Parts: sequence; C-alpha cells; structure tokens
Amino acid sequence: MHIPVLAEQVIGFFNELSPEAPRLILDCTLGGGGHAIQLLATAQQVRLVGLDRDRQAVERCRERFAGSGQRAAALHANFSDAAAVLEDCWDTLAGELGLGAGPERAFGFILADLGFSSFQIDSADRGLSFQGNGPLDMRLDQSQGQTAAELLNSLDEREISRLLRRGGVGSEASAVAREIVKRRPLRTTADLVAVCEKSVPQARRSPGRSPATTVFQAVRIEVNQEFAAIEALLRAAPELLSPRGRLAVISFHSLEDQLVAKAMRKWQRSEMPAKLPVKQVNDTLGKLLTANAVTPTEEEIEANPRSRSARLRVFEMH
Ligand SMILES: C[S@@+](CC[C@H](N)C(=O)[O-])C[C@H]1O[C@@H](n2cnc3c(N)ncnc32)[C@H](O)[C@@H]1O
Repeated sequence: MHIPVLAEQVIGFFNELSPEAPRLILDCTLGGGGHAIQLLATAQQVRLVGLDRDRQAVERCRERFAGSGQRAAALHANFSDAAAVLEDCWDTLAGELGLGAGPERAFGFILADLGFSSFQIDSADRGLSFQGNGPLDMRLDQSQGQTAAELLNSLDEREISRLLRRGGVGSEASAVAREIVKRRPLRTTADLVAVCEKSVPQARRSPGRSPATTVFQAVRIEVNQEFAAIEALLRAAPELLSPRGRLAVISFHSLEDQLVAKAMRKWQRSEMPAKLPVKQVNDTLGKLLTANAVTPTEEEIEANPRSRSARLRVFEMH
C-alpha cells in the first residue's frame, strides 16, 4: 500500500486556490492514486488528468477512478512530455471529462510527487530495491530504455564514476565504478549490493545506512533520466498553468529539491534591473508560497518512514 506523502498539506494548498483558478488538476505522478483520490474528494466540480510513466500505475489508477463518475483520466506518459501529450489528446480528454469550452490546458493545480512508489520499490522484479534480490532493471517505464544492467555493463569506468557523482555518491564513486567494471557482467541487484559492500570501506559508511543506498539512487536517476525530466516539467509548467494556478512539487532528495527551488526562485525574481524607473512593471511569473520547503510532521514520519526526506514547494502564478 502506498501512503501519499504530505497529503494534508497538498490538499490545503489546493483548497486555498483563488476562485479564479479552474478546479482542473494535472497529477504528473499518479503512482497509487493516493493524492489524486483525495484531491477529487475535495469537491464535485474537481476534474483531474493524471500521468505516470509506469503502465501498471496507470492501470491501477484507471480502476480506482472508475467510481469517480468520469471526473478523472489516467494517461501512460513521461511528465517531461506533458505539454505535447496533452496537446495530442486534449479534445478527447475534454470530451471525457466534460470540460466544455475554455482555455486549453489551463490547469489550476499541477502536482508532481517525484521518485518511486511503494508498489515499485516493493516489487523485487523492478530491481529498485537493494533489500530483495531481483533483475538489475530500475526502469520506471519498463516498456522502453536501457536497464541498469545494460547501462553499467556497457559504460566505461570514468562514465560510471561520473554518473554516480551526479546522483549524489561522494568520493567513493571511483572505487565503486572500478569494482563494477571488475565484476561485470552485473545481472542482479545482489550483484550491485556486493560491489558496494566491497568498495565502500567501513569507515566511510553512515551508521544505520547501507552503502548501497546512494549508489542505487544514482543509478536509478541515470536509468530514468530523472533530472532531465524534472527540468522539462519545470520549463513546461508555467505554460500549462492558468492565471493564479499553483504548481506543487514534492521531492525526496536534495538534488531534485535544488532544481525545483532554483526554478521557482527564478520565476519570482524580476528580470528588470532594480534601479530602472519601471519598477511598477511586473515581469515576474508569480510568487513562491513556501519560503522554506514544507516538511512532514514527526507523526507523519512515525506513521510513514518513507516521508522522512520529503520536501514540498509550491508556486502560484499571477
Ligand atoms: C511517489 S510516487 C507517486 C505517488 C502518488 N502521489 C500517490 O499518492 O499514490 C511517484 C510516481 O511517479 C512516477 N514517475 C516518476 N517519474 C516520472 C516521470 N518522469 N513521468 C511520469 N511519471 C513518473 C513513478 O512511476 C511513480 O509511480
């Protein structure tokens, strides 16, 4: 069972939307449909379009939405392609959800709850967890792209070291890359765990944390091109939002959160030099509603340890 993270806070930001903003939601990361179902339950007029790059997640959500009286649709898509996908199927979606006439693709609320769901991490055959043994796959969309095994068995040592560093691995990246090359071909998650056990010395390990944690994170980020997808979504979001629409992003590690924070801060900064006598011209996109990221309460962390590292940032358009 996947428990939606920071759900109360997300619902709060949705309920406080300006009356001007349409109650049309784009959920970029449907997962188990937890946030989506709670958002739909806030009011009968709410409509939701949901995306997920994992086909199983989309099928699961279609079943969950069956009882919502045609107020929600689920599409199999990478959110990096959101603008193009929505453009292609907008007429059908608008018909299905009874959206009537109105500005195209003007969402009042966009949610992205990044990373992976409990369904994905708990299925050993996805290869996302270092706890159970399974094929070294890690693709969130298993219908395309290279698996982690294909990637690690083909790149050279320097490229592997670089991808590990990009994904958050520290100075042990080169030792891990060397050990990967030495033990190739890697086939299973246990093979990659064995690499980490061998190449990260006891003295460099954080207490209570497997040395495989960050290595698995870095490889998963590369396999799924996660940073590029977030950057593409951040480029598209201002065009997809209606006036007074809100973008809410939940991230689970500092590298993702930095991308989100940087983009949102840039959107609220004026491009005009402060000294020009045109100060009254407002060329910002809107305002950041979360000066500091919103984090879960102690009670939420206790009930759902997966929420521990979650950080929510919300931006509102003018
Ligand atoms: C943390 S879960 C979302 C959970 C969901 N909010 C809920 O309450 O059940 C993240 C989901 O995002 C999906 N995902 C990750 N990156 C994606 C991308 N670039 N495009 C579309 N879906 C993505 C994953 O497949 C996963 O199902």
